[in-house]
Amino acid sequence: MELEDRVALITGGGGGIGEAIAATLAGEGAIPVVNDVDAARAAAVAGRIEARGHRALALPADVTRGDDVRRLIERAVDALGRIDILVNCAGASQTVMFEDIDEEDWRRIMDVNLTSTFLCCRAVIPLMTGRRRGKIINISTISAHRTAIFSGAHYVAAKTAVIGLTRQLAYELAPHGIQVNAVCPGTTFTPHLAARVPQERRDLLLKMIPAGRFATPQDHAYAVAFLASSKADFITGVALDVDGGALLSWMDYETYVAARRTGAGTVRPEDVPGR
Ligand SMILES: NC(=O)c1ccc[n+]([C@@H]2O[C@H](COP(=O)([O-])OP(=O)(O)OC[C@H]3O[C@@H](n4cnc5c(N)ncnc54)[C@H](O)[C@@H]3O)[C@@H](O)[C@H]2O)c1
Repeated sequence: MELEDRVALITGGGGGIGEAIAATLAGEGAIPVVNDVDAARAAAVAGRIEARGHRALALPADVTRGDDVRRLIERAVDALGRIDILVNCAGASQTVMFEDIDEEDWRRIMDVNLTSTFLCCRAVIPLMTGRRRGKIINISTISAHRTAIFSGAHYVAAKTAVIGLTRQLAYELAPHGIQVNAVCPGTTFTPHLAARVPQERRDLLLKMIPAGRFATPQDHAYAVAFLASSKADFITGVALDVDGGALLSWMDYETYVAARRTGAGTVRPEDVPGR
């Protein structure tokens, strides 16, 4: 198996995407350390993975806090000896206009999405450089290349910074045999997000995805599994969009087709409804 006996720490592993990543890495032979601030969620995910016959370890911790992160890494290393793969997946968003973001919201969203990534990288990298091997995969979002629909400017700022952090770390760590990449999920209706978005809003959004469906947690998990594998040893510093082509155009697919039919190949502003 591609990831036989690799120890993989997944922060936010109790969430929808984190669980798919932990389960997929386990299926490839890795031992997932499932971290979450919500201890019950982490335990439930580790339990489901174990029920499928794999090893897994649940370690609750708040990864926005340096002390918690240090203890988390110590406990993982005590139990399993090392960390080969770090997936920074803990995250949170808030659907809000800029004028309604207060200082507390700003700091919370920065902490959960960005500072947590910094703290976990800082704690894990010395272990990896010592062994001259390691994979770090940071979960950003396609909103980091565009704007967010369900989140605010603070989330976009934090997730864009995650890509910057990924790039700089990739450069600094390349001589040490460590690859650092980001995965940028498109809209993924995990139970958490699904509860916030009514069906009619989802139908509108679907038109923006030329592949004709929303992303699933499994789509992102496959991307992470590839980047964590030795097949990706020469890939570092990339931000991989997993979005069914959603970022490729600034219009929905029906409008694109209509514009091409009427404009014989040329998209004119007057071909786009509403202009
Ligand atoms: N769902 C989407 O459409 C989407 C799109 C783009 C990016 N993302 C990103 O993917 C990642 C996973 O998102 P998801 O959709 O699975 O969300 P989710 O809410 O289901 O999972 C996030 C998990 O992170 C945990 N968490 C929050 N704060 C934490 C902390 N301080 N310490 C440890 N764990 C903490 C939560 O308890 C939760 O279990 C996030 O980084 C998110 O920003 C999601």
